[in-house]
Amino acid sequence: MKIEVSKLKSHPLNDRIYSGNMDIDDLVENIKKVGLLEPLVVIPGNISGNYLVLSGNRRLKCLKHLEISHANVRVINVEKSEIPLMIVSYNRTRVKKPSCILKEILILEKSYRIGRGSREFQKRFVNVGKKVKGDTREIVGEKIGISTGQVSKLKYIYNIKPELFDRIDDGELTINQAYIICERHKNQEDAKKVNKIKGRKNLHSQQVTILNKSSEVMDEIPNNFISAIITSPVFYLKRRYSNNENELGNEKSSEDYIKRLCNHMDECYRVLSKDGVMFLHLDDTYDENGSLQNIPHRVIIEMMKRRKWILRNTIINKKSNPLPSSVKNRLSSSYDFIFMLVKSRNYSFNHIRVKSTSSNKSITPPFHRGNNTGVSPYISDGKKNIQDFLDEVNLDIIVSSVANQIRTKKRFGLLHPCPFPEKLRKVLLGLVLPPNNSDKITGKKRSDFRLLDPFCGLSELLLEGYENGISVYGYDVNSNFTKSVIKEFRKLGASL
Ligand SMILES: C[S@@+](CC[C@H](N)C(=O)[O-])C[C@H]1O[C@@H](n2cnc3c(N)ncnc32)[C@H](O)[C@@H]1O
Repeated sequence: MKIEVSKLKSHPLNDRIYSGNMDIDDLVENIKKVGLLEPLVVIPGNISGNYLVLSGNRRLKCLKHLEISHANVRVINVEKSEIPLMIVSYNRTRVKKPSCILKEILILEKSYRIGRGSREFQKRFVNVGKKVKGDTREIVGEKIGISTGQVSKLKYIYNIKPELFDRIDDGELTINQAYIICERHKNQEDAKKVNKIKGRKNLHSQQVTILNKSSEVMDEIPNNFISAIITSPVFYLKRRYSNNENELGNEKSSEDYIKRLCNHMDECYRVLSKDGVMFLHLDDTYDENGSLQNIPHRVIIEMMKRRKWILRNTIINKKSNPLPSSVKNRLSSSYDFIFMLVKSRNYSFNHIRVKSTSSNKSITPPFHRGNNTGVSPYISDGKKNIQDFLDEVNLDIIVSSVANQIRTKKRFGLLHPCPFPEKLRKVLLGLVLPPNNSDKITGKKRSDFRLLDPFCGLSELLLEGYENGISVYGYDVNSNFTKSVIKEFRKLGASL
């Protein structure tokens, strides 16, 4: 049937999807040479005698451009709900910009959501006699002629950074590159959400207490008050940190050292809450006969004799860069211990954040890898999850490098002989830190979470805890260390 071109209008949905994709120069030349080979497919318009073009909108533009008065059309009758899929199907083989494909996806998805119209259409026109199955994304991908992966990526980019489509359309970025940019951005945003209680308005509820005194008596702290203790006490006869007479580690015998350290540990037991966790970092010392004294285990045995500690893990901290040793008649030492101790079996522990790549995989993988608990796997710096810091095979072996003293010196203006390695800090903190300001699992707020280090030194651990919204408590006999740490807390806006 022949219709006046002036009575033909492009279907508005067609304009919405393809308006930016209507280059007609070649087609104009073609139509000039051979005329219109195929009739345009149209439906009756709202005004009588007018028609809306479903297939052939570029050709319609050419006809108007060439001022051709009449065109051959095929009038069809379709349900309104069938129109989106028809328009997309007619354009399936066309070369399209990614932003145009995205529009197709969004429109088709919407129409699939509205009802079964499109599926009915498929049954009737596309997959006649076939049972239509599969999820919307699959069907949409198939209709457009792209994989489900591409459908997901384009939608992801649209949801996270829609402004990237201009650059993708211009060929400046591939879809994959844009997808990676979006993933990175989303991870950073998620991490910010986890850490959103950083910032001044929340600081008032956070406590910071740094005391320049021995932690052998911690009268300032009530019983069962502390949520977690992470600490690395002075090891026996390794070094002096100050001239303070209360400084631990220089006792006459290992027995005396163990007794004194256990006094500190008794206090730790008193202040730790019933569902609290303590990580205690200890190393051994050779005696004058060149024998290891088994001090770490003797400390634990004594602690367990004195109080009802439950020892949950003996973690090996393997040093990736142990101090070089000139010893020729034995192997050099390259690890020390971290003991995980609790007061009851009912303690808070973020096992959920530990993604294992080993055969003993966590049954609850982190959020971004498919877990729907709403618990973010990210710890303080927001970029890595705990498993990124853990040994790939054995979860109770941490491979850490000795802390960078130069960096510590830069930050604090003075040198600490053995600051806590960064990796230990992140792993151990991550295991106890409430995942969110309001933890869905425990119902606890981060500011109600109290972390203690009774041998805090230049405690980047407490600073990091504070930056993550928790309250922190530290003791050290060396006043240079405590002064310096207090200064750093003030820089973060803490009042103390
Ligand atoms: C191994 S360092 C801890 C380092 C700390 N984790 C850091 O990252 O800087 C041990 C700390 O315990 C402190 N110390 C020694 N005797 C102490 C005592 N009786 N009470 C509290 N702190 C003590 C030392 O001054 C030293 O800073």
